[in-house]
Amino acid sequence: MRTVYIIVAALLLKISQLDGTFARAIADNPQATMTELNVEKGLTFVKREHQVPFGIDFVGCRDWTDPNGMNCNTDEGDTLCTEQRPVLCVKVDNSPRPAYFVYGSGAAMPPEFYAGWNHGHIATTLPVAGSSFSTKADVDAYCAQAFGAGWRLATFHDAMYISGMNGTIYAGDSWTANTALMQTGGWHYYSYGDVRNDMRFWVHIRDRPANCWSN
Ligand SMILES: *[C@@H]1O[C@H](CO)[C@@H](O)[C@H](O)[C@H]1NC(C)=O
Repeated sequence: MRTVYIIVAALLLKISQLDGTFARAIADNPQATMTELNVEKGLTFVKREHQVPFGIDFVGCRDWTDPNGMNCNTDEGDTLCTEQRPVLCVKVDNSPRPAYFVYGSGAAMPPEFYAGWNHGHIATTLPVAGSSFSTKADVDAYCAQAFGAGWRLATFHDAMYISGMNGTIYAGDSWTANTALMQTGGWHYYSYGDVRNDMRFWVHIRDRPANCWSN
């Protein structure tokens, strides 16, 4: 009887210690804890168009040409992690920006911000549940396994832009010569590639808890 009591008391003590650790983790870093708990939804991008002359894709949050298209959600994710989606992978080889045109009038940021260049190539893996990865490094490794060394998970912030770039302005050599003017873009970007357009695909975002895996 007395032994049983001691065991129960020890278990209760253990549980309260775990509780304490957990509460402290939340207080210290609410965002990290959300990631540890594995958020339910992850961020996805979609292909918006392919431009044959340059062999480039325009990918991002939303395909505005599709009236039934959905928006991505950079705060909470937009697609259940248990769903199977291809992973968007990238290989950066520092290719200069091809002379594609920049359209639109911009929003909070100038139009070039939403039409950046990712300095390389994209490809999509076979569909896979986002919840099958525990860390970003796992997804990077999955890309390398699918496409070879140097391939990694694509991120929301991969592309760069130069204010005033359009067509041949800041393309090719004049892109490469002006590294100092480059800034990080977001939401959509151009890349070499011709990925599938029948499904959205997983991408990573560094500063929000909208990933199925931890940073
Ligand atoms: C870029 O050039 C094209 C073609 O001249 C033009 O239609 C477009 O409005 C320009 N984009 C910006 C952001 O000025």
